[in-house]
Amino acid sequence: MSNKVTLTVIKADIGGFVGHSSVHPKVMEKAQEVLAESDLLVDFHVTHVGDDINLIMTHRHGTDSEEIHKLAWDTLVACTEIAKELKLYGAGQDLLADAFSGNVKGMGPGVAEMEFEERKSEPVIVFMADKTEPGAWNYPLYKMFADPFNTIGLVIDPKMHDGFFFEVHDLIENKKVLFSTPEELYDLLVFIGAPGRYCIKSVYSKQGEIAATSSTQRLNLMAGRYVGKDDPVCIVRCQSGLPAVGEALEPFANPHLVSGWMRGSHSGPLMPVSLQECNPTRFDGPPRVVALGFQLAEGKLIGPQDFFADPSYDEARKMANKIANYLRQLGPFEPHRLHLDEMEYTTLPQVSKKLKDRFIDADAPINIKEVAATK
Ligand code: 13P
Ligand code: 13P
Ligand code: MG
Ligand code: MG
Repeated sequence: MSNKVTLTVIKADIGGFVGHSSVHPKVMEKAQEVLAESDLLVDFHVTHVGDDINLIMTHRHGTDSEEIHKLAWDTLVACTEIAKELKLYGAGQDLLADAFSGNVKGMGPGVAEMEFEERKSEPVIVFMADKTEPGAWNYPLYKMFADPFNTIGLVIDPKMHDGFFFEVHDLIENKKVLFSTPEELYDLLVFIGAPGRYCIKSVYSKQGEIAATSSTQRLNLMAGRYVGKDDPVCIVRCQSGLPAVGEALEPFANPHLVSGWMRGSHSGPLMPVSLQECNPTRFDGPPRVVALGFQLAEGKLIGPQDFFADPSYDEARKMANKIANYLRQLGPFEPHRLHLDEMEYTTLPQVSKKLKDRFIDADAPINIKEVAATK
């Protein structure tokens, strides 16, 4: 008998409490209430990382289900009403459309979902990050599924030894490409090493089973202006031919640099944190990631296990804070500030436009005495 389940994670920033740091408890309660009223779901879990509310849902309606997406949209709209009442910061920020139109993709919220046959035991991890963008998963997904120094299973587990398929999306050209690893490792790295443009959307086993999937929406590209970063989510299935839970968590022990942080315009270390510590403060950061583990049991979400609450991630946090200290000293200089291409979707172009007419030909003379006399 088919035992297919769909795990859908839909997230949005519909108003921060306070500033961009967290989600108000009343907003969480509202989401809980709306989802509990629905009979579409097998189970759900409402949580947040920083100012992003995350709806983790299981159901039998497959991916891209209009009913499920509408339920999530309606939930986020109901949450926005509370956010507006409380005048939370940027209330409704991520709901770019006025009305639901079939699928929340392209409407602002981030979506990661996968449908699969529930195995005898089905451990999954939902990774959720704040103050960064979808490309933030490239490095850890590569480590989990392609790097034998991270995932020893690639070497010693015959079920993993053949490697994996990586589906990579070009977020600028709106194209995708499939790479097969380990044969095409170097080709894969050409692209995913540029995470502002190329994002790992999904990873599949060589048997064609979905193993991981992420949200790849880029809000600023959709809105054509700065509307916050597209704080991403990622689902990873574990064990029995897929990375062990510990192999999926291991890449976060070395905080890598991601784009986001203050005003979505800076490079900073991705700090692994517990739910308790998931509210960014320093310079609205540093960017952070939470990992919640669940065992699925007939679609029920058994959990969560708050993985980064483990003291074995203390050193990673220390390192992230050290990197943050160092980068902060650079202030408005690159590479702490993102390079110009990335700043195009922020408010920087408005400032440079104002100064446009001040530029004269580089060969033209400047009479500095004359200029000084007018001051
Ligand atoms: P499985 O093959 O059961 O996933 O075992 C691997 C493991 O748990 C090692 O940590
Ligand atoms: P969010 O994308 O998390 O809303 O943060 C935006 C920001 O500008 C932080 O400084
Ligand atoms: Mg925000
Ligand atoms: Mg956010």
